[in-house]
Amino acid sequence: MSIKTVGVVGCGLMGSGIAEVVAKNGYSVIVREVNDEFLQKGLARIRASTQKAVDRNKITVEARDQLLARIRGTTHLEEFSECDYVVEAAIENLNLKKDIFERLDSITRPEVILASNTSSLSIAEMAAKTKKPDKVLGMHFFNPVPVMPLLEMVRSFMTSEATYETSRALGKALGKQIIVAKDYPGFIVNALLVPFQLDAIRFYENGMASKEDIDKGVRLGLNHPMGPLELCDFVGIDTVLFIADEVYNETKDPRYAAPPLLRRMVAAGYHGRKTGKGFYEYSK
Ligand code: CAA
Repeated sequence: MSIKTVGVVGCGLMGSGIAEVVAKNGYSVIVREVNDEFLQKGLARIRASTQKAVDRNKITVEARDQLLARIRGTTHLEEFSECDYVVEAAIENLNLKKDIFERLDSITRPEVILASNTSSLSIAEMAAKTKKPDKVLGMHFFNPVPVMPLLEMVRSFMTSEATYETSRALGKALGKQIIVAKDYPGFIVNALLVPFQLDAIRFYENGMASKEDIDKGVRLGLNHPMGPLELCDFVGIDTVLFIADEVYNETKDPRYAAPPLLRRMVAAGYHGRKTGKGFYEYSK
C-alpha cells in the first residue's frame, strides 16, 4: 500500500512532534485537535521546533517552509477519510482512545492501518473496538520526537504480519531506529524506565540524597542526558504516575507501586515543566 497522507490524532507534545517528523519526510499530514485553541497551540509548537532546526542548521528555510506546507490542521476527525495511515496521539485515557479507534474505524478506508502512540495502554483493547484488529498496532515515539531516534513498535496478538511490515517501513522512512515489543504493560522502555524513576523518587523522599545529587549521579556517573528526577519533570510527573499506576494495576508488580510523594505532587499540580514546577522550578 502506498502511503501519501498520514493522519495524526492530537497535536500536543507527542502529536505535534509526530506531525513534524512525518511532514519532514515528505508525507502530507492532517493533524486533528479537539478545539481550535489546542490546535493553534500545537501548530505554534511545530513552527517553534522547526525554527530551532533552522537556527541549528538542521534544515534549510526552504525545507522548513515545505514541511509546514505539508501539515493541515483540523478539528474534524471526519477529514481522516483522506488518510492512508493514522497515528493516534491523544491523551493517555483508554476509554477516550477506544472511542477514537471506534470512530476512526468507520471514517477510514478498510485497508488503512490505525496506530497508537500510547506509552503503556493495551493495543488489543483499542483494536477490539474496530472491525480490523489485525490492522492495529502501537507506534510509540519518544519525546522530543524530532530529536529522539527510537520508535518502539508494539504488536498485539491480533496484529498481522502485513500491518507490522508496512508500519516498520514507515518507521524507517521517518528515519527512526526500531525495536519491537509485545503488547504487555509498559512495553520495553517504560517497563525499564519507570521502576528506575520510582526508585529515584523513593531515594529523595526517604532523604537518602538531595535531588540534585541523585540527578548529577546519573548524569555524570551513567552518562544519561538527564537525571531521573529531571526526566520526570520533562515527561510530566502526571504521566509518570499514570504509567506506574497502569502497569501496577495490570501486573501487581511492586516495582511499579507509586511512592506517596509522587501521588501528592500530582494532586498539588506539580506536573513538571508543563506547569512550571515539579522536582525543580521552571520560569516561563
Ligand atoms: N529537528 C531536528 N533537530 C532538532 C530539532 C528539530 N525540530 N530540535 C532540536 N534539534 C537538535 C538540536 O539542533 C540539537 O542537535 P545538535 O546537538 O547537533 O546541535 C539536538 O537536537 C538537541 O537539541 P537542544 O540543543 O535543543 O537540546 P539539548 O541539547 O538541551 O537536549 C534533550 C535536550 C534532547 C531533551 C536532552 O536533554 C535529552 O535527550 N533528554 C532526555 C530525553 C529523553 O529521555 N526522552 C525520552 C523520555 S521517555 C518518553 O518519551 C516515553 C514515554 O512514554 C514517557
